[in-house]
Amino acid sequence: MTKPWSLALGFISFFLLSLGASGFTRPAPGRIMITRHNKSESHPQQVHISAVGADGMRISWITDDKHVPSIVEYGKAPGKYDMSATGEHTSYRYFFYASGKIHHVKIGPLEPDTVYYYRCGGVGDEHSFKTPPATLPVEFAIIGDLGQTEWTASTLGHVGKTNYDMLLLPGDLSYADTNQPLWDSFGRFVEPYASKRPWMVTEGNHEIETFPILHSHPFDAYNARWRMQYEESGSTSNLYYSFDVAGAIHVIMLGSYTDFDSKSDQYKWLVKDLAKVDRGQTPWLIVLLHAPWYNTNTAHQGEGEAMRKAMESPLYNARVDVIFVGHVHAYERFTRVYDNKANSCGPVHITIGDGGNREGLARDFDENHKSVSLSLLREASFGHGRLKVVNRTHAHWSWHRNDDSDSTVADEVWLDSLNASEACKTDPSLGYSGTPVVDEL
Ligand SMILES: *[C@@H]1O[C@H](CO)[C@@H](O)[C@H](O)[C@H]1NC(C)=O
Ligand SMILES: *[C@@H]1O[C@H](CO)[C@@H](O)[C@H](O)[C@H]1NC(C)=O
Ligand SMILES: *[C@@H]1O[C@H](CO)[C@@H](O)[C@H](O)[C@H]1NC(C)=O
Ligand SMILES: [Fe+2]
Repeated sequence: MTKPWSLALGFISFFLLSLGASGFTRPAPGRIMITRHNKSESHPQQVHISAVGADGMRISWITDDKHVPSIVEYGKAPGKYDMSATGEHTSYRYFFYASGKIHHVKIGPLEPDTVYYYRCGGVGDEHSFKTPPATLPVEFAIIGDLGQTEWTASTLGHVGKTNYDMLLLPGDLSYADTNQPLWDSFGRFVEPYASKRPWMVTEGNHEIETFPILHSHPFDAYNARWRMQYEESGSTSNLYYSFDVAGAIHVIMLGSYTDFDSKSDQYKWLVKDLAKVDRGQTPWLIVLLHAPWYNTNTAHQGEGEAMRKAMESPLYNARVDVIFVGHVHAYERFTRVYDNKANSCGPVHITIGDGGNREGLARDFDENHKSVSLSLLREASFGHGRLKVVNRTHAHWSWHRNDDSDSTVADEVWLDSLNASEACKTDPSLGYSGTPVVDEL
């Protein structure tokens, strides 16, 4: 799979792509860490898991050997697999690169907050994961723009040191940038974390990977490798979907790089999905997407503006609590906003694009930006976020900065669920599309 000429071609295309990259100054990024596969061709690698349905898990992994069956054996004690499931497999080609056999196996029903031991392909190493709890509290680790550098290793090291239930990633995973073997390296790099807790991801610009003339179809590697539970939420695309956590949180993953205007499938799906949320049962509503709608960094200015114009109103009308974004390689937290003004019924916007990829940090914030008064804290450092949803009304957000080998809490704030706010009550029967229900508060 990782043939030398394939790597060489990848680096050539990567070089051509970099020529077109925009030019703001960044400090020295971390070195890329290549993670090799040194076991047999039939040995399962790149194991990662994602939540599927109310009580299932999708186990995804790759073998170079196409004869390995898509089977996962699992159970609640090490080495004792009393259950098993068979799934599906896929593969893709990119220029001269041919992927291994990419297996996706749904297992379950699983008990909540329980450790399961599992083995892939009947031959792999034993892995284990913990399912999310059925009730609050629940804790999310949130990281954007991850990559696979020394800084990424530091961020993931901190993520893995303390317990959490699920990882949310608002786009830009491997930074393979058409060099397909780097996707395989990334899969192996994150396996120690992504095989233990569900990783729920949405796509960023680095997942698009079209190449003039040679490869016109977008997201082929991403969709084949990082398959998320979109059908279960009525979506027809792996690029946007939603799911519930702990019976109290609805998480919506949106796609910044697919159509989002009011006539698009994504928009129609979003409005329907919002209408299905019963806030009496599900007081928390969280959204992730890649390109920020609010951003005072000089990097990527205005790139999320068309999507903001198209989708801000339905999200506001549905009283989304918080929107996590990436793309800008820095941290920034805004006050509650709607339509470029502070609004106590709007979502908090948080940029958490500081996972540690090879492009380094976006250091320059614009002191004269029109949104400066809405921006409460901003800093260009690597790190990750934690959202601990404590109960139906309170959640604690913290940003954990990488200070060399330590992790330091550099921002924290309590968030109140908008559902609990009398002043922000809406009438769900009005639906969530069209003009705002409440203009000014
Ligand atoms: C095999 O790969 C693992 C993970 O990259 C590494 O820790 C280990 O040292 C490697 N072993 C050999 C013999 O290269
Ligand atoms: C929810 O958690 C907050 C913060 O810990 C606490 O102040 C509040 O009393 C809790 N509410 C309920 C209903 O337990
Ligand atoms: C959330 O809203 C629903 C419907 O308005 C209401 O029944 C429920 O009590 C609210 N939850 C909280 C925690 O306020
Ligand atoms: Fe990005």
